[in-house]
Amino acid sequence: MAAIQPEVINNPRVLSERLGALRREGKTIGLVPTMGALHEGHLSLVRRSKSLCDVTVVSIFVNPTQFAPGEDYEKYPRVLDADLACLESVGGVDFVLAPAPADMYPEGFDAHVHIGGVTRRLEGEFRPTHFDGVALVVLKLFNISRADTAFFGQKDYQQAAVIQKMVRDLNLPIDIRVCPIVREADGLAMSSRNKYLSESERKEAPILKKSLDLAARLVSGGATDAAEIKYRMRALIETAPSSAIDYISIADPDTLEELDAVEGSAVILLAVRIGTTRLIDNMILP
Ligand code: PAJ
Repeated sequence: MAAIQPEVINNPRVLSERLGALRREGKTIGLVPTMGALHEGHLSLVRRSKSLCDVTVVSIFVNPTQFAPGEDYEKYPRVLDADLACLESVGGVDFVLAPAPADMYPEGFDAHVHIGGVTRRLEGEFRPTHFDGVALVVLKLFNISRADTAFFGQKDYQQAAVIQKMVRDLNLPIDIRVCPIVREADGLAMSSRNKYLSESERKEAPILKKSLDLAARLVSGGATDAAEIKYRMRALIETAPSSAIDYISIADPDTLEELDAVEGSAVILLAVRIGTTRLIDNMILP
């Protein structure tokens, strides 16, 4: 079957109008927010949306408000044509929203969204303005699309927790689905930022997943002391010469508060720089 050719729309209001008409016909709408440079991780969300919703919208927008000065906003890959080809490979989607920054944040724009609690630690500590920017753009995308369901990846575990909290705290009428992490054959979680890695750094990068696997083995072998597990993970990661650890955390899966002991369910989250590229990964322990 030929792939659906998406209507590529820059203007959020035009998308709202198109989707409003479809909603009135009784169609359900699925939204997949992305920053582009699409890979299999993104496509897994798109497939999920296509299987659950009548209409699928993919947004492709490198959102300036979630980058701090000195981060990679300028160098973040922008490859719309390749992204459209990538979407074609899964049979196409109905709409792509690809706005310019001024379409999302026109002259005079001045609004803020701050979600507390789960934003405080981990990424929130290393990137203090990041989640305000994410919450802001995602809330705008929810309002523009008025989607029934939005799809996020577990790859950005804390981001998904922030979005779920925003939906709860603000009574947003949308269903959030969090989809599993898609990995390369050697375990590296797929990410648009993997493109920044040099050949030798790329060889080191699977150390994140290896350290998560080590933790899972320790826990299934009966280990409960979070400090000991984190120590062993740290020691393993430090064998990669280009690595520098920002954090390793063993936390409550809902509140993201640090745990001293792994007794019930837990999530292990880590951020590691490989050279100048900052990678994040996580694993939920059953
Ligand atoms: P981006 O990094 O492009 O990711 C878009 C979505 O794809 C996120 O929900 C992310 O968790 C998911 N994703 C990325 N890599 C994945 C992988 N390997 N497996 C499964 N899912 C994966 O996250 C953002 O963009 C932005 O912060 C955004 C939510 C679009 C707001 O600007």
